[in-house]
Amino acid sequence: MPNKSLITAEELYTRLKNIKVGASVCQYSLKKCAELVPVINEIQRLKKEKDAVILVHSYVSPEIVYGVADFVGDSYKLSRDAMATKAKTLVFVAVRFMGETAKILNPDKEVLVPATDPGCTLADSITAEDVRRLRTEFPEHTFVCYVNTSVDVKAECDVCVTSANVYQIVEQLKSNKVYFLPDKFMGENLMNEMKKRKVAKEILFWKGTCYVHEEYDAAAIFKVRSEYPDVKIVSHPECNAEVVRNSDFVGGTEQMLDYMRKAKASHFLMLTECGLSARLQSEFPDKNLVGSCTLCKYMKSNTLEGILQTLKAPTSLQRVHIEEPVRLRALKSLDAMFEYTKHIPVKKSAVCE
Ligand code: 13P
Ligand code: SF4
Repeated sequence: MPNKSLITAEELYTRLKNIKVGASVCQYSLKKCAELVPVINEIQRLKKEKDAVILVHSYVSPEIVYGVADFVGDSYKLSRDAMATKAKTLVFVAVRFMGETAKILNPDKEVLVPATDPGCTLADSITAEDVRRLRTEFPEHTFVCYVNTSVDVKAECDVCVTSANVYQIVEQLKSNKVYFLPDKFMGENLMNEMKKRKVAKEILFWKGTCYVHEEYDAAAIFKVRSEYPDVKIVSHPECNAEVVRNSDFVGGTEQMLDYMRKAKASHFLMLTECGLSARLQSEFPDKNLVGSCTLCKYMKSNTLEGILQTLKAPTSLQRVHIEEPVRLRALKSLDAMFEYTKHIPVKKSAVCE
């Protein structure tokens, strides 16, 4: 549901004042909010004029999440939101593979990606050519791709998954031979989780990593646990297996927020990108964050000015274009994902309810 009204500096400050993560990048005074408001309100005006909606991943800067987002969430929820909206233009404030996913699902809509550096170390770790070679090497395996892949890679795979549904989908697969790509840590976590659930599957995986999540190690968890005995450790499945084993909850970014919304504990260590910690501080100010977080330079290459420029006059690089034959093949892997998850309800956008 689009934000309808213009915002004041005081209203913006109310949403941003409790955010303390990411040093000066994500800290706000009333004066800073007053400087941001004219750009925000120009974006709101242009959005209506151009029949556009703005979809925002939780990792981008808080002034974007709380200033201009119509939809905010994780990659799974945003892909559902992109399908549900009737707007003509989707401005995908995240990284390229997420904009591509929206375009695969909405070929008749204009999809724009304002990030100046829209990469992702996972999506960039594997090519369609790599997958074609792997398929000849492992012809009996079902190829499962994480959503953090390019459209060309999705087109070579059987089913797509996100961090929110990877375990449920792989558990349901008929084949007992699975090739998971591109995240080696998520692949290991998937293997361990299937063993825990007593699901017999041979799981092979590619060697990609997320440069943000591979930074975390279990030593940080042990240190925090010794200082805060009631702390809950909440991690993303892109973290390594030891981190995951020592966590109280593991899930996609929206599931992590949900867990913390319901948890009784007062201290949390979040092992994921700083944007999610910022959402926690803004939306649950009575819960305390301990430890530090890491920034994703790709997600953080989105700015309010970049969104404004994209709405005014997108460059050809910012417009997502996908050749139809590739789109149709990639669509099959996304359709397979939606088929496996059709019984799971999708939550409404927290920012826009
Ligand atoms: P989510 O789908 O959990 O939001 O994760 C996307 C991502 O890029 C994590 O690094
Ligand atoms: Fe990619 Fe990691 Fe950034 Fe997510 S946090 S977009 S996986 S580089």
